[in-house]
Amino acid sequence: MDLINLFDFEAAAREKLSAMAYDYYRSGSFDEITLEENHAAYDRLRLRFRVLRDVSERDLSIELLGRRISMPMLIAPTAFHRLAHPDGEAATARAAAAAGTIMTLSTLSNCSIEEVAAAAAGPLWFQLYVYRDREATRELVGRAEAAGYSALVLTVDAQVWATRERDVRNRFHLPAGMRMANLMTSGLDSIEAHDSDSGLGRYVASLFDPTLAWSDLEWLAGISQLPLVIKGIVDPEDARRAVDHGAAAVIVSNHGGRQLDTSIATIDALPAVAEAVDGRIPVLVDGGVRRGTDVVKALALGARAVLVGRPVLWGLAVNGEEGVAQVLDILRKEFDVALGLCGCRSCAELDRDLLAGV
Ligand SMILES: Cc1cc2nc3c(=O)[nH]c(=O)nc-3n(C[C@H](O)[C@H](O)[C@H](O)COP(=O)(O)O)c2cc1C
Repeated sequence: MDLINLFDFEAAAREKLSAMAYDYYRSGSFDEITLEENHAAYDRLRLRFRVLRDVSERDLSIELLGRRISMPMLIAPTAFHRLAHPDGEAATARAAAAAGTIMTLSTLSNCSIEEVAAAAAGPLWFQLYVYRDREATRELVGRAEAAGYSALVLTVDAQVWATRERDVRNRFHLPAGMRMANLMTSGLDSIEAHDSDSGLGRYVASLFDPTLAWSDLEWLAGISQLPLVIKGIVDPEDARRAVDHGAAAVIVSNHGGRQLDTSIATIDALPAVAEAVDGRIPVLVDGGVRRGTDVVKALALGARAVLVGRPVLWGLAVNGEEGVAQVLDILRKEFDVALGLCGCRSCAELDRDLLAGV
């Protein structure tokens, strides 16, 4: 089978993965309305392209938190890459580095913070879940900083865990011997099978800190020098508060439709957030990005860059590091074509006038 777009990669990955792993990666919460909407909302937007502007030379690179990256697509944090491929997050990080972009490592990775840093020379961000055990949390932050990660991505849309019904039915757990490598020192590294529930749901409910509040951003700033990126914002007032609390960037995200079901599609939430932030810090967006035109739309509506979650996992499952490289390359080429066909030569030229009726 030819793998020429990101949807092909999902179909091919499905053939390779266990039902438990595929369902875990693919699922949204409850009725999966937000999961659907994240991509469908992109498909509803129509581009009013411009012509005759010499687009022979196109520059896809952007500047983000003081660093130039090759394209406005980053790798979103996703858990458990060894469910897709034995090389796990190390392979993903190598592919990101080769593509000249940033990988965000999940707290819940199978390769450790240090292993991933050693595997890849490219820029890395560390995604943080705050545990009730604040010492364990502090240790994660310290390790990421010591290993050279260049930003902390605090996920704020998962303080209460939504039900992914497939995971409940499959009694989701990590296969024997598979661990969350960052949490071995604190003894929080395994996800056991539960006889009537998702093991991950049980893990999160008992260990993540549901008291997390805006005041904790000061606590985080006090234990780390790293720029803080807040992931999981859809409300403009929250975005303003993030700026006021010193965030270096925000990510408009609904966790890929895995948390509050029927929440707003991220591309629909983006314009108001971008307006509220008003250029003070970069706004990023994730959820449902599957085509180059999706990236064009996100940038036109005020995002500096997008993050991609599931397609990276599909690439990893199909062909390890090479598969992730292929997924990133497809998206880069599609974006390049879409940029040129919009009459633009750089990401900065994408503006809201390209979108009819928004
Ligand atoms: C399998 C899977 C695991 C995820 N794990 C995490 C995680 O550990 N931390 C986090 O902040 N977000 C996590 N997310 C959410 C992603 O970072 C991102 O918001 C989402 O996947 C983007 O949507 P997309 O998959 O449609 O591109 C996960 C998403 C998926 C699909």
